[in-house]
This record gives sequence, C-alpha cells and structure tokens, in this order.
Amino acid sequence: MKIAIAGDHVGTILKKDIVPFLESLGHKVKDFGPFSEERTHYPIYAQKVANAVVSGEFDKGIVICGTGVGISIAANKVKGIRCVCCSEPYSAKLSREHNDTNMLAFGSRVVGLELAKMIVTEWLNAEFEGGRHSTRVEMISEIEENNQDLEQDLHNAKINC
Ligand code: RB5
Repeated sequence: MKIAIAGDHVGTILKKDIVPFLESLGHKVKDFGPFSEERTHYPIYAQKVANAVVSGEFDKGIVICGTGVGISIAANKVKGIRCVCCSEPYSAKLSREHNDTNMLAFGSRVVGLELAKMIVTEWLNAEFEGGRHSTRVEMISEIEENNQDLEQDLHNAKINC
C-alpha cells in the first residue's frame, strides 16, 4: 500500500519509529513531516496527509499528535476523509470493517510503540465489509455534501436498517 504519514512536534517522536515499521511490512511510505520536535501546528500536517489521500495518490493516511484528537478532527474536515482516532486495535479494525476509514490517528502521549504497531497492523489488515455499512457511510457523505435531514431521506427512500 502507499501510505502518507505525518504528525506534529509531539507525534514526530513516535512517527520516526512507525515509518520503518510500515516499510518493514512492505508498504511504500511518504513522510510529510515534521522532521523535528520544534513546536508546530497539527492542522497543517493533517491537511497535507488528508489531501494526499483524497487525491488518490495514497491509499491510506496515518497521523500522530499528542492525543490523536486534534489531528483527526482537522483531517476529518477534508471532504472524503474518514479518520479514526483510537488507542486500541479493536476500534481500529472495526473502523475499517464498518466505517471504511481511510485515515488513522493516534497519540504519542497515549500509546507506546508496541501498542501503536498493533493498532496500525489491525487497521491495515482489515477490509471494509460493505453491505449495510455502505448505506451508513453514504449517509455520512450526504451530511458532508448537503446536511439534509437524514431521517427524512431514509423514510422517503424506505431503506431498511
Ligand atoms: C500539542 O501540545 C498537542 O496539543 C497536540 O499534539 C495534540 O495532542 C492535539 O490534539
């Protein structure tokens, strides 16, 4: 897979170990920075990775800040991004299977390297299950598109849950 990765000044501490880990699994990785622990702003790096993913240039994106929260919120503002922020592998896996996430975020102040590797592995190995989950992912896109009343849309279309 082609994977775009970035962080902020806090996330870069963990990122420097996650990049070679991803490469050891056979992935092609582009590190969008930062490359030092000099204070910076996580939305800059969230945007770089999110744009690299929605453009189709990269299959998936991984972003790391202190908690994973700020950088995931920022990434989710880019149309087409579904970024999960998580600190354990179960949610990471399910976020692929049910929510078709295309970006993963975690915090270098929250998870250690070995747990981060487990999260990344489960996330990358899981596949979107489609089916009933596709309807819900499409509904998320509809909110992004026009924010109309989803319940009314569902009623009109007589879609089963
Ligand atoms: C930076 O101090 C910190 O706020 C950032 O890394 C992240 O945790 C924000 O959500």
